[in-house]
Amino acid sequence: MKKEELMAIIEQRIRECQACPLWLQRTNVVPGEGNLHSPIMFVGEGPGEEEDKQGRPFVGKAGQLLTKILESVNIKREDVYITNVVKCRPPNNRVPTPLEIQSCSPFLIAQIEVINPRMIVPLGSTAASFFLGKDEPITKIRGKEFVWKGGIIIFPMFHPSYLLRNPSKEKGSPKDLTWQDIKKVRKYYD
Ligand code: URA
Repeated sequence: MKKEELMAIIEQRIRECQACPLWLQRTNVVPGEGNLHSPIMFVGEGPGEEEDKQGRPFVGKAGQLLTKILESVNIKREDVYITNVVKCRPPNNRVPTPLEIQSCSPFLIAQIEVINPRMIVPLGSTAASFFLGKDEPITKIRGKEFVWKGGIIIFPMFHPSYLLRNPSKEKGSPKDLTWQDIKKVRKYYD
């Protein structure tokens, strides 16, 4: 089966999912979108208000910043695959609970199996701890390479919402570090 067909099946399952209470409050499910043949996947925490309205990942303010970060190294957002750890919006954008993450995890794992990326970039600590299995502060682990499941590189970066709350571009600031990190990601894209 082609990647597109497999992903369509996964998306259908996601749309039908009622495995945790988040489905009760969602407007739209946000499965993910982008290039299924990309060597790089970006994984956020969960849909926010705008994503819930549109059914697309990273389309609000944080998403616009993510697009800018990608464009700084000549990557278009449609050239990579973008998704989240949970596919339904947690109320008031709270952090998803361990139960919600666990319920949703088969979908993310299935998406990764279809895309089979060289590198996964978790955005923020919720996504990073999904892959690394521990709650390390993002400040400690961003910009470092870890290996997951014997081959995929995990390269955590700051979540763009965190950058919106910390707008300084001074040397060593989260924004400055992010603009350095994305250059390293670029190397795995070619
Ligand atoms: N924040 C996330 O973690 N994911 C989105 O899709 C949007 C905002």
